[in-house]
Amino acid sequence: MSKTILITGGAGFIGSHVVRLFVTKYPDYNIVNLDKLTYAGNLENLSDIDKLPNYTFEKGDIADEAFIDSLFAKYSFDGVVHLAAESHVDRSIKDPMAFIMANVFGTVNLLNAAKKYWANNFEGKRFYHISTDEVYGALEETGFFYEDTPYDPKSPYSASKASSDHFVRAYMNTYKLPVVISNCSNNYGPNQFPEKLLPLAINNIKNNKPIPIYGKGENIRDWLYVVDHARAIDLIYHKAETGKTYNIGGHNEWTNIDLIRLLCKVMDKKLGREEGTSEKLITYVTDRAGHDLRYAIDASLIEKELGWLPSVTFEQGMEITVDWYLNNEQWLDRIVSGAYSEYYNNMYK
Ligand code: NAD
Ligand code: TYD
Repeated sequence: MSKTILITGGAGFIGSHVVRLFVTKYPDYNIVNLDKLTYAGNLENLSDIDKLPNYTFEKGDIADEAFIDSLFAKYSFDGVVHLAAESHVDRSIKDPMAFIMANVFGTVNLLNAAKKYWANNFEGKRFYHISTDEVYGALEETGFFYEDTPYDPKSPYSASKASSDHFVRAYMNTYKLPVVISNCSNNYGPNQFPEKLLPLAINNIKNNKPIPIYGKGENIRDWLYVVDHARAIDLIYHKAETGKTYNIGGHNEWTNIDLIRLLCKVMDKKLGREEGTSEKLITYVTDRAGHDLRYAIDASLIEKELGWLPSVTFEQGMEITVDWYLNNEQWLDRIVSGAYSEYYNNMYK
């Protein structure tokens, strides 16, 4: 059945994989990608699909009330898949207000537009909010985040995402807006902006620059290949009961230092360097303020109820990712030569 779906943040890392999946898998859907094209948005991420007839790009800010209203008036959206956000913890520590504007204000603005334009008929409508496991706070060495784990966000980023999650649920409770939410662990894969750990390390190894590891490198993250996140989003959008929340994760926990050592091995092999060469670039630097020790998702609910499982192993995902960055040097070089270099020099001085 034909549908018109608004995907926000589709020029970013995860959003571009979601747009590609929806546009190619559902040729009878009209996919509208709304993105402000902040430093993290890059239309090059979609150059392979942007000529397809069921894809439209709209540049704009989710926090711009008049613009969002006009967009909902222009298209009769059946659904919203909302990914647009400020997404980097370190930036949120430097400038929390930008995160409140995009993540909280922007989300409420979208909720208001959906409520206004769908008010007389929620039938067949869906507002899907994409969130993070960071809303649950930090774990010690054991235990997992479940869908009913109490919220305990600890960084300005996770506080803004937690706030947006609360608003989404409040709009369902108060106005009956048909919502679903998912909270995912750390993603990796092609097109990730090189401020995040893995692409930053890949770029630095390639250029023989120090790999900055915060603190002792003992913090633990649960890594999921981005295409598997996009597959989960597709499944949840189409199959989840209204009001449900699903956690998405890779059952794939790594301390930062072990993860980077593994990456160094893969990079040595790919670059034809002697084993051990890249590891010498590892440099311990001042820890992130309030650095969450461990995130780990229990993803058994989405596995049991929707039959989702990751499709690639971590070894496969890492190979694909490293190959992608090495084969797409222009993509990386264009980013690191721009405003990113100013950010980098400021952040890692
Ligand atoms: P990203 O930073 O790569 O992309 C964000 C996109 O949103 C960019 O294209 C940017 O231009 C756009 N954007 C930002 N502010 C906007 C605004 N005000 N109006 C319109 N567009 C705006 O982020 P990502 O890593 O792809 O994350 C996407 C979503 O997934 C976010 O909501 C994030 O919280 C969530 N998430 C990310 C991860 C992860 O590991 N990266 C894990 C779980 C959840
Ligand atoms: P990041 O990719 O920023 O994701 P998040 O903070 O959302 O988990 O960081 C992943 C982990 O890597 C996190 O524990 C912080 C750490 N890290 C470093 O050690 N050095 C770096 O330069 C960066 C960017 C992150």
